[in-house]
Amino acid sequence: MEADVTMDKLVSLCKRRGFVFQSSEIYGGLSSAWDYGPLGFELKNRIQSFWWREMTQLHDNIVGLDASILMHPRVWEASGHVENFTDPLVDCKRCKLRFRADQIPEENLEKLECPKCGGQLTEPRNFNLMFKTHIGPVEDDGSAVVLRPETAQGIYINFRNVLQSSRQKIPFGIAQVGKVFRNEITTKNFTFRTCEFEQMEMQYFIHPSEDLKWFDFWKQTRIDYYEKLGIRSGKLRFHRHSADELAHYCRDAYDIQYEYPFGWQELEGIHNRTDYDLKRHSDYSGKDLSYLDEVSRERYIPYIIETSVGLTRTVLIVLLDAYDEEQVEGEKRVVLRLHPRLAPVTVGVFPLVKKDGLADMAREIAQSLKEEFTTFYDQGGAIGRRYRRQDEIGTPFCVTVDYQTKEDNTVTVRFRDSMEQTRIRVDELAACIDSGVKAYERVGQ
Ligand code: GAP
Repeated sequence: MEADVTMDKLVSLCKRRGFVFQSSEIYGGLSSAWDYGPLGFELKNRIQSFWWREMTQLHDNIVGLDASILMHPRVWEASGHVENFTDPLVDCKRCKLRFRADQIPEENLEKLECPKCGGQLTEPRNFNLMFKTHIGPVEDDGSAVVLRPETAQGIYINFRNVLQSSRQKIPFGIAQVGKVFRNEITTKNFTFRTCEFEQMEMQYFIHPSEDLKWFDFWKQTRIDYYEKLGIRSGKLRFHRHSADELAHYCRDAYDIQYEYPFGWQELEGIHNRTDYDLKRHSDYSGKDLSYLDEVSRERYIPYIIETSVGLTRTVLIVLLDAYDEEQVEGEKRVVLRLHPRLAPVTVGVFPLVKKDGLADMAREIAQSLKEEFTTFYDQGGAIGRRYRRQDEIGTPFCVTVDYQTKEDNTVTVRFRDSMEQTRIRVDELAACIDSGVKAYERVGQ
């Protein structure tokens, strides 16, 4: 029986077990900023590596890039962010609370009445979400730069560099993962919407006549990816942007939504950005960003199909989707049903008891597995407790060394999801775990 996961349960598990901590907690916390602890960092890295593998290693024509966070201010004029990357805000003159005008009830907005205290609201004003800073000691307009609010622009402004240096031909893609910053007004629901987060974006450059084909291809490829990540398909759906949701640069856009405890919300965006970006950067920089097809001799500005997802938001859905509770022998078992390739610890190794040389044998086995798997050695407490501690962080395999090991060099392997146990020879252990990772299928989709 699956128990409903709530945000409170997840936040508490994340703190207790070292996945995610509130930023600056000892100073009272900084709202909407989060720190990834030992297990959270490991999980985030694994998700990033998996995304990278799926988006670059499996495609001959997708290459990587790591552009800087600070860019020339003209980049953001060309991209449209200076003009359009805004939220409409209203302030209450009485209680001083600030709201996004599009997130308060319509009647309050019409009457300019505060939804909290009934006080008078200001007229909506547009607030740009980009964080500003300065390069150098003088804080004037000439030194002002912004922290990038998306990684995409770093890719567009390097289009020519990558094309010339990597000899790619259209269609081809550029992938990038990195930190971005947005001065978000509403930051709630844990790490769902934060001011600082990481994005994993891929921009696919194509001939304009092939936009529908590639748009469909990337929609399908990206939804399939979540299945490989172990996310239950019933928790995912597409949402097509309506005309008033569609960004000014998009011809068509779909979100992949996830059903969070607070409802269906965006996880990833797949956008047909047309030739907007390269045209704008051509115009603003004065540099020719067109592409010459060497066979047909046609010269054109490529269209771009973008796939864009938050890495930190993916960590959130992976944890939410994995969280489960069940009753086992009259006790609650909390278990993270993470795909083994994502689990921060792959194998837990325990001696049944510390004495009689079992601890040394278990340590030796843990050491030998470390070459291939993230391994955690634990000799503290009853064996059942040790299993539970690993269940709670999603460790898919636990190995126990007992007296029989001394006699026949076999160990018990216990599987997290089914709690079944099997006896395996020590020299077969690595292969057994490896195939368990590769062949994993989650039960109860
Ligand atoms: N380059 C396109 C772009 O940035 P977006 O829809 O603004 O599009 C893409 O962002 C993805 O980034 C979202 O689908 C979401 O996963 C993530 N994201 C956006 N804002 C976020 C925030 N404030 N906190 C965490 N993740 C965010």
